[in-house]
Amino acid sequence: MPSPSPKTKAVILAAGLGTRMKSRLPKVLHPICGRPMLAYVVDAAREATGDMPLVVYSPATEQIREVFANEVDFAMQDVPRGTGDAVRAALDALPDDVDEIVVLSGDVPLIAADSVRWVAEGRRDNGAVMALAAMELNDPEGYGRVVLGGKDGHVDRIVEEMDANEEERAIDLVNAGLYAFDVGWLRGAINRLNPSAATAELYLTGLVEIARADERPALVVVDRGDSWAYELNGVNDREDLNEVKEFLAYDRILLPLMKAGVTFEDPASAFVDATVEIGEDVTIEPNVVLRGATRIARDTVIKSGSQIVDSTIGEGCVIWASVLEGSTIGKGVRIGPFAHLRAGCEVGDGAEIGNYAEQKNTRFGARSKQHHFSYLGDAEVGEDVNIGAGVITANYDGRAKHKTVIGNGAFIGSDTILRAPVSVGEGAYTGAGSVVTKDVPDGKLAVGVPARIRERRPAATTEEA
Ligand code: UD1
Ligand code: MG
Repeated sequence: MPSPSPKTKAVILAAGLGTRMKSRLPKVLHPICGRPMLAYVVDAAREATGDMPLVVYSPATEQIREVFANEVDFAMQDVPRGTGDAVRAALDALPDDVDEIVVLSGDVPLIAADSVRWVAEGRRDNGAVMALAAMELNDPEGYGRVVLGGKDGHVDRIVEEMDANEEERAIDLVNAGLYAFDVGWLRGAINRLNPSAATAELYLTGLVEIARADERPALVVVDRGDSWAYELNGVNDREDLNEVKEFLAYDRILLPLMKAGVTFEDPASAFVDATVEIGEDVTIEPNVVLRGATRIARDTVIKSGSQIVDSTIGEGCVIWASVLEGSTIGKGVRIGPFAHLRAGCEVGDGAEIGNYAEQKNTRFGARSKQHHFSYLGDAEVGEDVNIGAGVITANYDGRAKHKTVIGNGAFIGSDTILRAPVSVGEGAYTGAGSVVTKDVPDGKLAVGVPARIRERRPAATTEEA
């Protein structure tokens, strides 16, 4: 018989100071693969319960409120007096109709929704007032040790490392910090916790002994398979953070991308945020960083040394040793080596942007080329335009930024300076080294410093040649 489904709310503890991180940033806001640690826990909690989780924070971790506004409910723990006190603060903020809570730690980011359900179902199926997840570790250091005493699956008590004697420290079964509680029982039991002799904190783990005293012993849920211990890895310092990041990066990001048809020539040197999407038959060469809301369409090659942030890249592009930020790239575009596209660029299909070229807030039309050490800022460049070596848009006059407009098929000669605001018409030319301060009409030629407008010599035809 399936167990009855009570109204369950997830409570995530995130009020602790995280002193072992040695950081001004609250521990649970430390980023892992582009998202704050807590975001992964919030996802798992929401998926497991189908409801918004309740996050316990404190004045020291107030920043959590800003980062997760509208995504979670909040309860405030005035002073972080321990995990037991944090759950008490959660109970005060809990709606009356909730009859079960699952408690997760904000610093256990790999937790899977299935594991949360597993612990909650274990509790219900066994009629226990509380259940907790445990795992066996080769190196149990830093965790509370689970002392088994009674019948199978029943736990005697949990000893925190600080309070443990040598024999207890040798126990390799540890408390993972994932619990399920019957709220009716918990509301009374939480007030019976006594402060720890060693730290004066109220330990949530003290509830194990209270449950036993009530003759409703806590259930320990152990061993959900191979990945269980990884999933329950807690982050207390930056070494732990790195371990969790490595697991998450490979198992949860790179591996699924490989299965979906992406080639990583060297997965160890590919840094891909959890938020990045990559299409089939994309190749990622060694030493590539892909961050934020980046999307890469099929058949594109990202060559070594590229860093791409919050950018969309079309099909069949080649990006080589270049930095792209907040830009949108069409199909079949070639960029690099050593190009820098700053925020707000839109590059048309088949364009080529090359060596030491910079663009900022620029629309660059299809098949246009900018190959050699050149800057385009606040520019609107048409299709089939050639930007010669050393071309500069002087878009800033010391007070404000101005726009440069270049029409389809224009040819901007080497070392041209375009003093914005200025426009160059369709099919117009600028001579090498010219300084263009006035608009150039369609089809005309601008030469000199400052540039004068001339007629273009008629193009040579085969008969004349
Ligand atoms: C806790 C458990 C330990 C377990 C380990 C698993 C207790 C007493 N110990 O130890 O048995 O093996 O997790 O990772 O529960 N927090 C608050 N308010 C507080 C204190 C902590 O919200 O007053 C939050 C922290 O922000 C953190 C979580 O609770 O997200 C766990 O706190 P932490 O100090 O990391 O406990 P551990 O020493 O890891
Ligand atoms: Mg911890």
